[in-house]
Amino acid sequence: MPDRFEILHKDLSGRIGRLSTPHGTIETPLLMPVVNPHIQIIPAPKLAEMGSEMIITNSYIIHQDEGLRERALELGLHDLLGFHGPIMTDSGAFQLSVYGDIDVKPLEILDFQNAIQSDICVPLDIPTPPDVERERAEAELRLTEARLEEAAVRPRGSLLAGPIQGSTYPDLRKRAAAFLRGLDFDLYPVGGVVPLMEAYRFRDLVDVVVAAKKGLGSGKPVHLFGAGHPMIFALAAAMGCDLFDSAAYALYARQGRYLSARGTWRLDEMSWLPCSCPVCQGHSAKELIESPEKAKLLAAHNLYVSLQEMRLVKQCIREGSLWDLLESRCRSHPRMLDGLMRLAREGDWLESLDGSSKSTFFYLGPESASRPEVIRAGRRVERISLQGRVLVTDDPKADASGFEHVLYFKPPFGPYPQELSETKPFNAETPEMADAASMEQALENTRRLVAANPSATFSFRLRHMPEDMDMGA
Ligand code: GUN
Ligand code: ZN
Repeated sequence: MPDRFEILHKDLSGRIGRLSTPHGTIETPLLMPVVNPHIQIIPAPKLAEMGSEMIITNSYIIHQDEGLRERALELGLHDLLGFHGPIMTDSGAFQLSVYGDIDVKPLEILDFQNAIQSDICVPLDIPTPPDVERERAEAELRLTEARLEEAAVRPRGSLLAGPIQGSTYPDLRKRAAAFLRGLDFDLYPVGGVVPLMEAYRFRDLVDVVVAAKKGLGSGKPVHLFGAGHPMIFALAAAMGCDLFDSAAYALYARQGRYLSARGTWRLDEMSWLPCSCPVCQGHSAKELIESPEKAKLLAAHNLYVSLQEMRLVKQCIREGSLWDLLESRCRSHPRMLDGLMRLAREGDWLESLDGSSKSTFFYLGPESASRPEVIRAGRRVERISLQGRVLVTDDPKADASGFEHVLYFKPPFGPYPQELSETKPFNAETPEMADAASMEQALENTRRLVAANPSATFSFRLRHMPEDMDMGA
């Protein structure tokens, strides 16, 4: 079968992609609103009008309700819900993780998903929670893998997902991903992460997702199960997650909570509505608080801002400015910053995947010193070959007489050939005063240059000379 997933543009580990399904091709990254077949707070046709290209629903809930089951088998899922784009179905694995038990066999629920013409079917995996004993994580992973092996050889009318489990053990996640990759699924969800996101454990989330991505390789589409808060879309997309599902828009609305890309408000405590979606255009905060339709309206707002954030993430990937968005989104909450700092430690990995940089580099904080462009500059600095006297300076007016070579110095990159100062990434916009992380990275790159050129002698003329500068020059 030809590859169903095509990557069009890349930034960091994120990408704009296309995934083909029996009910049409979608563009990723993409958010699928979760539709509860019993209570549709926003009916599925309205979700399409609001801009949802694809939705996800729970086949287990349909299967367990006789009326719904019969209608789904007779009409198919798309007519049942009134949605004619692609529909993904989950297997009830999440119910298993919440209630400890479910009343259906793995192959039975998989065959049911096929029978109702789901576009992406999910076998019944076992969502192992975070922090369990390793033995349990391994045992449950073995069971998940056995079920997935069985599912993978079943005749496929549509796409099949292979969920990656392994609790909070990055090595298990990586191994599971590498194993599943060999079974040739069409989509790879990272599962069992809802408790991490609910507890704001974004550092652990980064560890788990990055480990799974490393095991999987970059060419496969990835779904982050249960990721519906717009606050994390930029971070998740930067790690290479392509599909997201949001029950959050409805769940938060029922609890009177108003989503934004910077976090969550209690609607009751709001005096203004900082959004221009149709709901917020049409209501004052007071009107919304007092509306008898409050939950429905709030769900609509929550979905509008979520879809909007996803479009922003896509635009940033397209222009190569996803890191800039990350830096601002991750400064909305200290736990998000923990996640960003963890991702920044994966600079080498990001550098190996990142397309060549497109938009002008903005230095926006210490994490910018770990951006792929900086790591790449550090690697390239060793290829600069120098003999004789070398001046390294941050002053374009410096007197260069008596030097064979002049290199410019700009934190966080360090030294670079003068003639590159108008090209990427050295045309970066950086603050007047470099912070410690930026200067440290620049000095590290300088040390590499010096070490690579033992026969040259280096002189430094820096307007902002760091105190501990010792290059042995
Ligand atoms: N929904 C949220 N988390 C999970 C998971 O780990 N597996 C499945 N199948 N669905 C989920
Ligand atoms: Zn709004």
